Amino acid sequence: MVSSANRVLIVDADKESRDTLAVHFEKSGWIVSIAKDGRQATQVINRDEPNIVIMDIVLPLRDGITTCSLIRKDLSIINYFPIIMMTSSPDRKKIVRAIDAGCDDFIVKPFKFDALLNKVNELVDFQRKKVKEEEKPDEEADKEDEIIVYSKQMVEKAFSNAMHGKLVDYPVIKKTTTKMVEIVHKEKTLPLAFKMRSYNDYTYIHSVNVAALCMSFAYHLKWNDLDLQIVGEGGFLHDIGKTQVDLKILLKPDKLTDDEFSEMKKHPEMGTAIASKQNIEPDILKVIVEHHERDDGKGYPNKLANAQMSKYGKLSAIVDVYDALTTDRCYHKGIDSEVAIERMSSWKGHFDPGYFEKFSSLISTETIGK
Ligand SMILES: [Fe+2]
Ligand SMILES: [Fe+2]
Repeated sequence: MVSSANRVLIVDADKESRDTLAVHFEKSGWIVSIAKDGRQATQVINRDEPNIVIMDIVLPLRDGITTCSLIRKDLSIINYFPIIMMTSSPDRKKIVRAIDAGCDDFIVKPFKFDALLNKVNELVDFQRKKVKEEEKPDEEADKEDEIIVYSKQMVEKAFSNAMHGKLVDYPVIKKTTTKMVEIVHKEKTLPLAFKMRSYNDYTYIHSVNVAALCMSFAYHLKWNDLDLQIVGEGGFLHDIGKTQVDLKILLKPDKLTDDEFSEMKKHPEMGTAIASKQNIEPDILKVIVEHHERDDGKGYPNKLANAQMSKYGKLSAIVDVYDALTTDRCYHKGIDSEVAIERMSSWKGHFDPGYFEKFSSLISTETIGK
């Protein structure tokens, strides 16, 4: 099987041999480059960037083995390509030298073209897979890091806008959430959310954590992408109402007084008011307004009981508490995941029991290091 847009470089001093090979390769759908000696080979490699090189071991000016060795040492050649050496007199010493020089395979002249083509396809496909495998984790990691940093800046901006009575940039939040849905699909699990813990700055990162954790949890519950989008956007914005709460209360290290607590308890409704200024979908508003409601109807602001709460509210209520408990804050160190789950399970009537059970099993099946 020939992969698309393959380019082969044939290096052979014998015109008839290289032309014959070129015709065969072209018939098989390859783009062919030609060189008649070692020096020319290096020039053509730089110009044409072949996927594979077929090179005679005996060449004028610079022999095949030296050329091979120079190619492998040439730092300007960034992409690795396999090199197959052709030889009509295979002797052990030569083969060892050629391997040391960085050649990947041999073919003994005369040969049938199909035999060479098989080797060529195998090597090119192998190389392509190898490159993909090597590049994939870094690429993904880069993308994730980018989105984490970007999400934090985005939330920071949304909070700052809200604090100054400006609109939060909802289209940006929507777009970023869509990107995160893609990542959750690829990751299939929690690491994305937990990577975010390395970024400090609790005020904003809590929102990013909650968004990511909500999405991971929703994915685990097999909710559809629209739901993932809703809990993601809702997660980013769930505490936006805190921008209206006095900073002295918000950052107070000690227990809040009753008055202070009632002030703090206004943030879900304040957040809803901020979000309602824009065309934010009603289900997303549910995350904002319901994330402090409780299963037994003793939550705030509306004392909704289980049956009155949306699934988005139920899910975000669990994630919000879990993240607050496990993340380091200015006045307390976050506790371990297991301890947090244990503590949360002792709070009777707080969370939807079905969702909570699934959340704790999700957390405990993941090897999460905090
Ligand atoms: Fe909150
Ligand atoms: Fe929160």
